[in-house]
Amino acid sequence: MLKISQRLLSVANEIGKVDSVADIGTDHGKLIIYALENNFAKRAFAVDVSSKSLQKARDAVIEYGLEDKVKFFHGDGLEPLTEIPDVTVIAGIGGNETVNILKNATIDTKYIFVPHNDAHILRQYLCESGFEILKDYIIKDGKFYAVLVAVKGNTEYNSAQIWFGADKPHTDYFEERIRDRKSKIEKLLCDKCIVSNRLQPELQEEYREILKWLK
Ligand SMILES: C[S@@+](CC[C@H](N)C(=O)[O-])C[C@H]1O[C@@H](n2cnc3c(N)ncnc32)[C@H](O)[C@@H]1O
Repeated sequence: MLKISQRLLSVANEIGKVDSVADIGTDHGKLIIYALENNFAKRAFAVDVSSKSLQKARDAVIEYGLEDKVKFFHGDGLEPLTEIPDVTVIAGIGGNETVNILKNATIDTKYIFVPHNDAHILRQYLCESGFEILKDYIIKDGKFYAVLVAVKGNTEYNSAQIWFGADKPHTDYFEERIRDRKSKIEKLLCDKCIVSNRLQPELQEEYREILKWLK
């Protein structure tokens, strides 16, 4: 049986028991192998924009004897899919890139997102673009990650929720992560550090939100 990281385990646990799962940016293919081995899904669609990564996933799937259950697609985001999966995972890709994927093609599926950065950009997009965010919580696996589960619908978030998430369901990491961001931003904004002009206003906005939240 394949062992996977805490981060990927959190994703796998959100899949439920479904017929099909798509993994966008599959890379090593570990998520789909785990999902198939543990009967979270009967079939999987592995997508990657990099042919090298897709080959890595194909080799791993063959190693685990699961090739009859997986379709492989080389291409960008959701575009290469030929059928709509019950669940679509976009993990390990930045919030900005995840938004670009959704802007290019949106399908009616349950989504699980674990952006590797800029989760606030993804939340903003989901709120503005007709998604209901069912879950939005923080996990820790070395660093902090936001896990979001969303379907078509509506969500109204205030500015703090856009930045930090809704903490639903509650995890002990929510406040820990906000305090961690506070000290990271303080270091980044200190006099001697050089932060790009693009990032300065954004970090300052996030910092103001943190101070409001901690009051
Ligand atoms: C850091 S790996 C993440 C692997 C895995 N999803 C995880 O969470 O561990 C990112 C993968 O996403 C792929 N990727 C990045 N942008 C993509 C896009 N627009 N469409 C499909 N794959 C993409 C990359 O080629 C790479 O293999």
